[in-house]
Amino acid sequence: MSPEELIRLAREAMTHAYAPYSHYQVGAALLCADGTVYQGCNIENATYTPTVCAERTAFFKAVYDGKRAFTAIAVCGGKDGALTGFFPPCGVCRQVMREFCGDDFIIYLDGGPEGWQKKTLAELLPGGFQAEKYMR
Ligand code: THU
Repeated sequence: MSPEELIRLAREAMTHAYAPYSHYQVGAALLCADGTVYQGCNIENATYTPTVCAERTAFFKAVYDGKRAFTAIAVCGGKDGALTGFFPPCGVCRQVMREFCGDDFIIYLDGGPEGWQKKTLAELLPGGFQAEKYMR
């Protein structure tokens, strides 16, 4: 699947966002190693803390369905859904990616009019806590 197609699916996912508090709508499209794609959006909460990000929604949907191997994720977002720049994954989402993905996992950042950037998990989470190093 092309980066452009994965980004298109992230943008579609963004329209599902439930963000009545921050008004930041975020979408993610997660490409599994078997070629399937899981979409996610942010889902906010009136007490704030239970809010879940778009990236984790996509990962948790996929993991629930038995997926464990992932190739790439595309992420986009902006105030009221306006794509005015890059919307990089938060630290918690990077750590969730690390649970299932290696250094070469690809993260496409959709910058709207600024185009898109390709990052790796190694770039976005250097020195992260890895289960295979510390927990097994
Ligand atoms: N958000 C995401 O969905 N993904 C991120 O990686 C960063 C933040 C959401 C959470 C909240 O609903 C809104 O963006 C503002 O923080």
